[in-house]
Amino acid sequence: METYKLEGGQLMRIEGPAKVLVRSGRIYAVGNIYTVGKAFTVLRARKLVIKALEDSVIEITLGDNANIEPASPEEEVIDVWEESVSKLRLENSLILIFGAMDVGKSTLTVLIANKALNDGRSVAVIDADVGQNDVGPPTTIALTRIKSPITHLRQLSAEKLIFIQTTSVERIWDRVIKAIHKLVNYARESWSIDTIIVNTDGWISGDEAVRYKAQMVEELSPTHVIILRRESETNKLIEELKAESVIVLPAPFSARVRSREDRKIHRDMGYGRFLFPIREVSLDLHRVRIANLPVLWDNEVKEEFKALLSRMVRMRIYHAYQYRDRIYAIAGTSQWSIKRIPNGFLYILPEEWESGLLVGLEDADGFLVGLGMLKKIYYDRGKAIVIISEKLEQRMRAVKAMRIGFIRLNDRYEEAEKVYNLIRYEV
Ligand SMILES: Nc1ncnc2c1ncn2[C@@H]1O[C@H](COP(=O)(O)OP(=O)(O)OP(=O)(O)O)[C@@H](O)[C@H]1O
Ligand SMILES: [Mg+2]
Repeated sequence: METYKLEGGQLMRIEGPAKVLVRSGRIYAVGNIYTVGKAFTVLRARKLVIKALEDSVIEITLGDNANIEPASPEEEVIDVWEESVSKLRLENSLILIFGAMDVGKSTLTVLIANKALNDGRSVAVIDADVGQNDVGPPTTIALTRIKSPITHLRQLSAEKLIFIQTTSVERIWDRVIKAIHKLVNYARESWSIDTIIVNTDGWISGDEAVRYKAQMVEELSPTHVIILRRESETNKLIEELKAESVIVLPAPFSARVRSREDRKIHRDMGYGRFLFPIREVSLDLHRVRIANLPVLWDNEVKEEFKALLSRMVRMRIYHAYQYRDRIYAIAGTSQWSIKRIPNGFLYILPEEWESGLLVGLEDADGFLVGLGMLKKIYYDRGKAIVIISEKLEQRMRAVKAMRIGFIRLNDRYEEAEKVYNLIRYEV
């Protein structure tokens, strides 16, 4: 533990893990003012800039690899951010935060949440960054209320989750917008929330990303859109949205940039975290329906028809299920393929297509109860063997549907591949 004297106006950049205790004076950090005796934490591998609002003394306890350094007011964004957030009307507000990766979206979300809370508002945060979700597991969008000041979004735990099936939004961005919309409505209707802040993913460059974010603005009608800009990466988006009430803020100068590998490690650990300690359960698929694939929906085709299909495509077909003009067939092949047949289409699922897929176990309202890993489906018995966490086991009664995800995990619960073939098969 070390004691530091800060002059009024002085800034300090702290890299966690660290705990800061105010001994005298007043310290500002992410929208909060900490007075004598108050403390806050900086999480591991995260940086936070603090400001002494008057001559102050602080005690800092630094953990492994923690670090502190002086920060200069010219290069820091602390005042600009504070000033523009102070001007926002937070009553009945919905605020979207846009920006590339590592530009401070999560930090700005915390700042606004704290300020709204300190103004006496009821506040909710939606973390819609499905790859780097701070509040819920990867592949989800999370909603939660904030009851007391925080320094990092990570300190919150999700109250409502929606499963998005994958960690990259490129192919499924329409679902992301719908899910955010559903959570916004839930927060307003069930909790009468004043201020909702939505932290988004970092996909903002390129025509489609711009279309996605513009569509999000169109569908959600936010009161404010805040774009964090590092260089020119947000120019197209800013131009596209210029008719709306958009606020552009600078990114922190020395924000930590995580490598792709680092992000992947972060996510890989993520799945283990939500499955350990593991339990293997057998789900009755007649009670817990597969939500997004019409398999085992009491729609198995007759034996003769199955035999006919087998001859037609010269493949062994073990099971086949009819859905409108489609037949879903589990076949003796390793290839996914969709074939034309008289009066419709044959959707071929390779045997063991399901092995290792991440699944979302959902309640009657479509909210996620917990994640699982699908091991095997026993079609004859209408059962699925799923790995879930012991904690989830007690809540399995609430589970009404199983949504198949696009991520296949290996036996160490790490991402092995993304199975985007499934998208074309979904209903
Ligand atoms: N003023 C600052 N100076 C330096 N680093 C900062 C500052 N504010 C935040 N950081 C650090 O920069 C990193 C990125 O910030 P943050 O997580 O808020 O960004 P993000 O846009 O949400 O990133 P991601 O794309 O990973 O979700 C974090 O490690 C954060 O602790
Ligand atoms: Mg973030």
